[in-house]
Amino acid sequence: MRLMFLGDVVGRAGRKAVVDRLPGLVDDLRLDFVVVNAENAAGGFGITEEIAQDLIDAGADALTLGNHSWDQREALVFIERQPRLLRPANYPKGTPGKGANLYVAKNGARVLVVSVMGRIYMDPLDDPFAVAEREIAACPLAEQADAIVLDVHAEATSEKQAMAHHFDGRVSLVIGTHTHVPTADWQILTGGTAFQSDAGMCGDYDSVIGMEKDEPINRFTTKIGRARFEPAGGEATVCGLVVEVDEASGLATRVEPIRIGGRLSQALPRF
Ligand SMILES: [Fe+2]
Ligand SMILES: [Fe+2]
Repeated sequence: MRLMFLGDVVGRAGRKAVVDRLPGLVDDLRLDFVVVNAENAAGGFGITEEIAQDLIDAGADALTLGNHSWDQREALVFIERQPRLLRPANYPKGTPGKGANLYVAKNGARVLVVSVMGRIYMDPLDDPFAVAEREIAACPLAEQADAIVLDVHAEATSEKQAMAHHFDGRVSLVIGTHTHVPTADWQILTGGTAFQSDAGMCGDYDSVIGMEKDEPINRFTTKIGRARFEPAGGEATVCGLVVEVDEASGLATRVEPIRIGGRLSQALPRF
């Protein structure tokens, strides 16, 4: 089976690129399951119910979030009625929504998606290793799940690599999100888990991590905020990873990056 993960969708440009391209990609690449990180989909900050539905209608089977989960307050409410939307599992007890869920893919396979947030240069949440362990133990690979995708929303590559090696052989894909820049380290780890430190963003790369450049530069150089951050509006690159998963073991057999449109060098899976 084939899974695709797309990195953080940033603003209107990112949404347009994903909504325009995703249906064709699902057909052309014969994708069975698609996960999209959508924490920056609404004006760069959070997600609305309408935007979540647009991404699902375009072909996203699950949407993950991150530190921007609640920037649009309505997400606190509609996440309870939208099972395809996940927030990090290691938020405090009582947080609305879920951090993991089991879905049925197009080929009938059962896919567990787990979202956790790192703690290095991030909010001090519950231990993401222990929380991911709990979710994966409740629905093990090749038993209750035919594939498992773990989104590690984190700043530090060390934390993401440690997470990947810790779960190597027990999940299909460990994918980093949050830095908005794709890393060139996609690989299948020795135990059979596909990994990339960061999927990159679906956004305009003529920007500072998806935002118009002027205000970030201003804040770095003067330390005085002058304007709001606005998502950059140029053509976005759809950016992520495609993984082929063995249907018996649930482990990865091939992994390739995908980068379509916009300014980044273009990449399409060769399988
Ligand atoms: Fe993000
Ligand atoms: Fe983030």
